[in-house]
Amino acid sequence: MAVRTVLKMGDSRLLQKAKPVESFDTSELHALLQDMRDTMAALNGAGLAAPQIGVSRQVVIFGVSRNPRYPQAEEVPYTILINPVVDPLDATMEEGWEGCLSIPGMRGLVPRYVRVRYRGYDEYGRPIDRTVSGFHARVVQHEVDHLNGILYPMRIRDLRNFGFNETLFPGQELVDD
Ligand code: NI
Repeated sequence: MAVRTVLKMGDSRLLQKAKPVESFDTSELHALLQDMRDTMAALNGAGLAAPQIGVSRQVVIFGVSRNPRYPQAEEVPYTILINPVVDPLDATMEEGWEGCLSIPGMRGLVPRYVRVRYRGYDEYGRPIDRTVSGFHARVVQHEVDHLNGILYPMRIRDLRNFGFNETLFPGQELVDD
């Protein structure tokens, strides 16, 4: 169990493509997931991808529980997703504000597909196949982008919609992913 250091934007490791996981239910994979959970919880994040702690593997975790501090946040079930594939169900996109543990203190307005199907595996190699929309779909797209070396500012259409939390949203507490 350990809270790991989260790499920050500017570190070239965040720009690499992560390698697929080849063996499931291994002590190495369970230890990685435990560190990812501990790190995400310590930083109060909504999601975390293995490359953010310097591990080049296609592993992401995410989840948002109902929290009175964020009454507007939609619930997302806690999910471990390995070797994921995300397919948009149609071309509809919407813009929404995102943050990232690798870009602390900032927010940007990012277009994402509204409805996606995602597939992958849990830590035991059991398949996951879900069709989701809205905030859940946004979080998955953000995390899977990390596995392809993409950080959300690279998707902002108008950089005037990128700034510091305390300036954009004074007085609000926000979760990052
Ligand atoms: Ni992120």
